[in-house]
Amino acid sequence: MYIKLFLISVLVLKGHCEKSFKLQQVLILSRHNVRTPLSKNLADFTPKTWPIWKEKSGYLTAKGALLEGYMGEYFALWLKKHDLLENDCPSDDNFFVYANTAQRTIASAKAFVTKGFPGCNVTIHHTSDSHDPIFNPVIHNTTAIFKLEAIEQMRVLLKSLHLNSSYEDLEQILNYKQSEYCLTKQKCDFVTDVNKIFVDVGFKPNVEGPLKISKSVIDSFIMENYEGFPSKEVAWGLLKNNDQWNCVLDLSKGYHSVIFNTTLIARDLARPLLHYMRDILLNKQYKITLLMGHDANIYTVLKSLDFKPYSLKNQHEMTPAGGKLVFQKWLEERSGIFFLKVDYVYQCTNQMREGKKLSLDCPPEFMSMQLEGCKTDEKGFCLWDDFVGILNSLVED
Ligand SMILES: *[C@@H]1O[C@H](CO)[C@@H](O)[C@H](O)[C@H]1NC(C)=O
Ligand SMILES: *[C@@H]1O[C@H](CO)[C@@H](O)[C@H](O)[C@H]1NC(C)=O
Ligand SMILES: *[C@@H]1O[C@H](CO)[C@@H](O)[C@H](O)[C@H]1NC(C)=O
Ligand SMILES: *[C@@H]1O[C@H](CO)[C@@H](O)[C@H](O)[C@H]1NC(C)=O
Repeated sequence: MYIKLFLISVLVLKGHCEKSFKLQQVLILSRHNVRTPLSKNLADFTPKTWPIWKEKSGYLTAKGALLEGYMGEYFALWLKKHDLLENDCPSDDNFFVYANTAQRTIASAKAFVTKGFPGCNVTIHHTSDSHDPIFNPVIHNTTAIFKLEAIEQMRVLLKSLHLNSSYEDLEQILNYKQSEYCLTKQKCDFVTDVNKIFVDVGFKPNVEGPLKISKSVIDSFIMENYEGFPSKEVAWGLLKNNDQWNCVLDLSKGYHSVIFNTTLIARDLARPLLHYMRDILLNKQYKITLLMGHDANIYTVLKSLDFKPYSLKNQHEMTPAGGKLVFQKWLEERSGIFFLKVDYVYQCTNQMREGKKLSLDCPPEFMSMQLEGCKTDEKGFCLWDDFVGILNSLVED
């Protein structure tokens, strides 16, 4: 009897001591949703016919707007569930939306807010320049030593990739040997043709050659799949299972690694965005911020902040279209200590292809992300002050 009572009181006390976390602030760094292929010369790389898109090159598609609207609806529910939003429209002081100037980023932000906050007239801030420096992933450092170091690091990364079988598979899919490019330029062998590295101030780091050609055509396959083209039209029906997808996707991952996944280059490219994010998180009063940018922004922020390696289940891409890094500031109410939690929130490939509506019962995927310099507990929390230290070390005032 006494033992039983004792056990019960221990359990009750333990319940009382459970930590209680309250969400204080959220910054969502998003990639735009499904767009049409960017490359205008895809027809050069295959004798086959590419699917026809309704929208202009590089534009958000109607499907992309639908999917991003689902994200907006989901996040509105999620933010209300965590008491960060009331039922009425968010005020400009609470909710800040900033998009890059590209059509696909502004249209993605618009889809997110018009579905998430219908009738609320949320302002989407953006600059009027064609290239907003905050989102533009170009090289800033003008020194010769930076250029030398950057080229060397990209070269080492490029050399470390093992892509022969991926290249061979992709050549088959494209029937590359019969392409206009091979026939006129005499560059007919992905495995042996040269990849040339470029690092120039004011430009994105670049690799020209088979790796970039591969990245461009695979990007089209990925978008065709999300868009919902019939299976026999997506990569002409030649990517039948995950193994086949993953094999060619190594090319696209390799390309992005070479240009974005070295600390030196990532930190140089992302510094204006990191500065902007730090200002919002530390100096502004918004409870919720949505920044709508590109895969380049997510890659370089991930590398700059030194996130641990991750893999996103049920997704082929490292930085999926419409995917969001969600930085959350939580208060542990008993101790008064603030914590950081970062989730990668994204729609899995099937949710995108099938156009699945999202809700609290049918959520997007959440992948808990960990920073190398901020010790994370099993629930995904690390000390806010440690995160602030990392941000401060990356951007000087
Ligand atoms: C929406 O906001 C803009 C800018 O604040 C304002 O000019 C416009 O009148 C508003 N529209 C509605 C329908 O409230
Ligand atoms: C430019 O790069 C060099 C070499 O990495 C570095 O020492 C220097 O601090 C960088 N300058 C700026 C302004 O970031
Ligand atoms: C890939 O192909 C190149 C060119 O044929 C060859 O030199 C290299 O050894 C191959 N790499 C592997 C890992 O087989
Ligand atoms: C960047 O490179 C590391 C290895 O240095 C790898 O583990 C990680 O997956 C890469 N990240 C991305 C986003 O490609």
